[in-house]
Amino acid sequence: MISLNTALIILVFLFFIKSMVGVATTENPLEQAESDPLVIEGKFTPKTLARYNGIDNPRIFIAVKKRVFDVTQGATFYGPGGPYENFAGRDASRGLALNSFELSCLTSIDEPIDTLTGLTKEELESLDSWEQHFDNKYKVVGTLHENNADSSEVVPPPQPQSKKDA
Ligand code: HEM
Repeated sequence: MISLNTALIILVFLFFIKSMVGVATTENPLEQAESDPLVIEGKFTPKTLARYNGIDNPRIFIAVKKRVFDVTQGATFYGPGGPYENFAGRDASRGLALNSFELSCLTSIDEPIDTLTGLTKEELESLDSWEQHFDNKYKVVGTLHENNADSSEVVPPPQPQSKKDA
């Protein structure tokens, strides 16, 4: 029969090992995004970004002014059930500018990227401050591009050299 103390030490040890393994597997978000066959060199589209919503993929990315931030460490904000979960895997720019996390501030992932038209100077300034907040707190893992750039996600086979180049 093991003593309570020994059991506690074993528990703490197991917890420590679990956290170490967790760190080892999630430490480099950029590497993870780059190893995703649908994301080439950190180039996301609204559709590929949507995969990083904390549900389909444990990592959470959001786009602010076409820059993609890894906000996984803010999972309490953006993870499932969090107050800003609507932003997970999405372009949050308009919502941040308007200080609203309503779904109506998000552009469908099938549509072209929001050009932020109609926002006032103050709203755009508010967005800039949010961008600064994200810059100070989170790592940039890529940039947001139109869905019709999807085809560039599949690396094209090398083209035969034309006679002119030879
Ligand atoms: C009922 C009103 C709200 C309350 C009480 C509230 C409260 C908070 C608190 C306490 C924080 C954490 C600050 C920190 O420790 O850094 C926070 C962060 C934040 N809030 Fe709100 N908030 C509210 C509304 C909103 C709305 C409407 C938005 C929509 C844009 C929003 C977006 C954010 C974002 C993006 C963060 C930063 C999270 C991060 O650092 O990743 N909040 N809010």
